Amino acid sequence: MINIPKGTKDVLPSESYKWQYVEGVARETAQLFNLKELRTPTFEHTELFQRGVGDTTDIVTKEMYTFRDKGDRSITLKPEGTAGAARSFIENGMANGVLPAKMYYITPAFRYERPQAGRLREFHQFGVEIFGSKSAQTDAEAVVVADTLLKKLGLQVKLCINSIGCPTCRAAYNKALKEFFAPHVENLCYDCKTRFEKNPLRLLDCKEENCKKLNADAPTILQYLCEDCAAHFESFKTCLDLAGVAYEIDPRIVRGLDYYTRSVFEFISTAIGAQGAVCAGGRYDGLIEDIGGSAMPAVGFAAGIERLLMVMEHTGVEIPAPSVPTVYLAGMDEACRNKAFEIAVRLRKAGIFAEIDHMERSIKAQFKYADKIGAKYVAVIGGNELSEGKANVKCMATGESEGVCFEDMCAYFLGK
Ligand code: HAM
Repeated sequence: MINIPKGTKDVLPSESYKWQYVEGVARETAQLFNLKELRTPTFEHTELFQRGVGDTTDIVTKEMYTFRDKGDRSITLKPEGTAGAARSFIENGMANGVLPAKMYYITPAFRYERPQAGRLREFHQFGVEIFGSKSAQTDAEAVVVADTLLKKLGLQVKLCINSIGCPTCRAAYNKALKEFFAPHVENLCYDCKTRFEKNPLRLLDCKEENCKKLNADAPTILQYLCEDCAAHFESFKTCLDLAGVAYEIDPRIVRGLDYYTRSVFEFISTAIGAQGAVCAGGRYDGLIEDIGGSAMPAVGFAAGIERLLMVMEHTGVEIPAPSVPTVYLAGMDEACRNKAFEIAVRLRKAGIFAEIDHMERSIKAQFKYADKIGAKYVAVIGGNELSEGKANVKCMATGESEGVCFEDMCAYFLGK
């Protein structure tokens, strides 16, 4: 027997309605904010993520599904949606179109991480990207989109925000971080020694106990923001206040991807353990330029669909049940089953949810099956019914039965 690859999951037919519900609410929310769907390929040139996500990040150094295709190109399954969206924005000349360009996506993403509850190797994101606006109001708008979605889904989560400044303030902050960590370099983990040299901000992201302890006393970026970034952060907070969205400032949020500038945020749930970030994002004013476009401010976020579903399950949020067949047509023998089949075809053409027997079961067993799938009515066709041209229709809720002519079935079930 061949098993499913580690860190991946089947969404079974009995469970998929939950996904459809979350995705439906996400699409509905996107529409309220004039966000249009973008679909990009599942794989991109590896270089896009190296330059976009950053080649000192865990994602790029350890977690990418990278392979050479038959044309000897280095290809990577997308570990997230932003880099592909940015590539598409540039390649399709969206900068010359109407700005801001507001879009959303629902996409699988792939990261070779150690699987655990809420952490998969293939997972799914609902993401939003807004290109073209540098205003802090747009950062708040992105947060409000996420907040609206989470509230519509009935999730109770905490919003944490921070600003990680621009390259100017980052330079001063990186210098301060280097000064702070310099006496401790020997005690840092292997990866952090490289981070110390190449990208000190990433030191704050380390999950190793020893490094985490050191990080606790490290200087925080908020003290190093330049005047413009500090003012931008103030505006961001003002707009969140205006929107009535509660937040905490957490100066330790630096995010695991290199493209961020200024505002960053995470929505955290305490219901699902260590992998509590259900939704995260921020501003990334340098990304478009970094991957070959002209300077273009942008902001966005992504929510992990598996994590949203996990929180909903753990906190007992009810997901509307999928619809059930209006009528199950039960046939006694082959001739009756053929009549049931013919009527079912007609009913479905009229938009009526109908089901029939596919297993050649007895009438009793067909009733049992109809009950199991929640059919509202069972229309029985036996020898007598066939010769009279009438089915015996039983309402499963009341137990009442009546004869309905085969020709009248559509009219009878429409609107039931
Ligand atoms: P991220 O924080 O890496 O950001 O991922 C966003 C969300 O995806 C996380 O909050 C989490 O819910 C989910 N997620 C991430 N990794 C996994 C995993 N291994 N298993 C299950 N769920 C996971 C980004 O991906 C950015 N592109 C977000 C963004 C969009 N920033 C600006 N625009």
